Amino acid sequence: MAADKLRAQGVTVIDLGVGEPDFSTPVHIKDAAKRALDENFTKYTTSAGILPLRQAVCDYINSNFGSDYTPEQCCITVGGKQAIFSGVVSLINPGDDVLLEKPCWVSFPEIVNFAEGRNVMIDTEPTDFHLTTEMVKAAITPKSKLLIINSPSNPTGRVIDPAEFRRIIEVCVEHGLWVISDECYLQFVYPPHRVNSAAALPPELRSRVLISGSLSKTYAMTGWRVGFTLGAKEWVTEILKIQSQSATMAASIAQKAAIAALTETQEPVKEMLAEYRRRAEWFVPALNEIPGIQCSQPEGAFYAFPNIKGLMKACGLATSKEAADLLLHKYGVVCTDGGAFGAEGYLRLSYANSMEALREAVERIKKMAVEEAK
Ligand SMILES: Cc1ncc(COP(=O)(O)O)c(C=O)c1O
Repeated sequence: MAADKLRAQGVTVIDLGVGEPDFSTPVHIKDAAKRALDENFTKYTTSAGILPLRQAVCDYINSNFGSDYTPEQCCITVGGKQAIFSGVVSLINPGDDVLLEKPCWVSFPEIVNFAEGRNVMIDTEPTDFHLTTEMVKAAITPKSKLLIINSPSNPTGRVIDPAEFRRIIEVCVEHGLWVISDECYLQFVYPPHRVNSAAALPPELRSRVLISGSLSKTYAMTGWRVGFTLGAKEWVTEILKIQSQSATMAASIAQKAAIAALTETQEPVKEMLAEYRRRAEWFVPALNEIPGIQCSQPEGAFYAFPNIKGLMKACGLATSKEAADLLLHKYGVVCTDGGAFGAEGYLRLSYANSMEALREAVERIKKMAVEEAK
């Protein structure tokens, strides 16, 4: 990786490219894993995941959102990514249309390609990246089979309001579509925006939605690889077939740790959210002070998604990839160019990093804006 090469040359590189928490997994979760090891809980489990964990997932979601999921509707997966992969592959036949927001997480279109579906991108730039019912309605054709929705969103940090979310799902159900709701960043929402899940929908809508959940971000557990699906029993049964013939199951030790994450104290989640918020409240206004940059305040997740078109023009840069490359090679800041997500003229800057690193990154971007101006 270019950043590693620079580090080897002695350059202090600031990495705002990572899509994972900078916090450690909370101690009580690690302790649960240690106990699992000491108790030799190191063998195969059922493919769907151990019953106490599936029950814990159902209890967690049902108690927060008033739903009535049962463990037969839950499959524990190897991270949220596998939940989405299996959800798409079990549903999509070659030539089926899948509606996606543009920009969206890079894996969505790739997974659809793998299933030989056709990506139909809904451009959300005109509404500052807020997906609306009208946009979804306009994109639906007789070939549309699935909408993948992701709120809070990676990369934009936008959160869909619960009423709008419901209307979007209603339109999909009216037109016979299925929906995957990727709720990877579920708890990371900044007030006044509200935490929302497809689980809060009425049963007739919820039955057409597969929830893809993940413990990766919420509990700073990206390396543990635990996610889950919740949805119609028939869909989850198909997902289970893929799971049992591929990964078999999520790691037994990680499953025990996941029970502790979901059933014990939620204080660390609140602390992480408060810290992300504190950083965003400093970082985004600081970015907006740099000439040529405009950045909306994130509503959730931990990404700033600034429009850098003015900066690119001033510096004679044709693409956001060129801007990201220049930032890395000359100024030692790693970020992801918006083009990678389908939004040319933007950068994704993760603030899952210390305030000190964010301050230094802002200084370096400012320096680039001054030095590179033509
Ligand atoms: C939007 C989104 N969905 C799903 C995932 C998958 O996360 P994991 O497989 O670690 O649960 C990610 C990870 O970056 C993500 O950003």
